[in-house]
Amino acid sequence: MNKWIAGGLMMAGILFGSVESDAAHPRPILVSHERIAVVYFSWSPDGNTRFAAQNIARKANARLFEIKPKQAYSTDFKSCCDEAKPECYGKQLRPICQIEGLDLAQYEVVFVGTPNWWGTMAPPVRTFVTENAAALRGKIVCLFQTNGGGGMQRCAQEFAELLPGSRVIKAQEFTGSLIRSNISLLEKFVDDRVVAK
Ligand SMILES: Cc1cc2nc3c(=O)[nH]c(=O)nc-3n(C[C@H](O)[C@H](O)[C@H](O)COP(=O)(O)O)c2cc1C
Repeated sequence: MNKWIAGGLMMAGILFGSVESDAAHPRPILVSHERIAVVYFSWSPDGNTRFAAQNIARKANARLFEIKPKQAYSTDFKSCCDEAKPECYGKQLRPICQIEGLDLAQYEVVFVGTPNWWGTMAPPVRTFVTENAAALRGKIVCLFQTNGGGGMQRCAQEFAELLPGSRVIKAQEFTGSLIRSNISLLEKFVDDRVVAK
């Protein structure tokens, strides 16, 4: 192997160690279903990320929690896009409501779901992860994302960067418009990562 490629791969391993190694060799984690939480934000009336989260929680027999911003985004698509654009590119935090009943100390594996907004996670998800980075330390954390066709873009990398103390395992993106015809993909996403006892 060319030494520059090898050096680059090694540097990537140092920078994103757990992400890269788990991405290369995903192994399902044996965990009690009571120790798995699914936390998500969803905005559109279709509720693509909500649908994904519900099915992931059902498959893992895990508890489901919703992230809600204190100030809701406009229900109009274009206005919401305009409002979210500077927040997303500026990596700003949008204040979120306290999530009733969620005590992260109870969980070993936390799935976090977001729609792709401007190539990254929606700001309420950035807020949740940032505010809970200490509580997520040492835990297994896994991102799932739905999108309008853009794929993962910067989402998984920016997510992992917010959680240096967590074991961030391989993220997955789903095309939002296909999510309801692809339930087996969501189930496989869970099966590849956890075996819930
Ligand atoms: C503010 C905003 C920005 C978006 N930016 C992107 C994008 O950059 N790339 C993409 O593929 N889809 C983008 N989308 C589409 C959503 O990611 C997609 O429809 C998603 O499945 C919606 O999830 P939800 O129904 O849970 O809100 C955007 C949608 C909104 C509202």
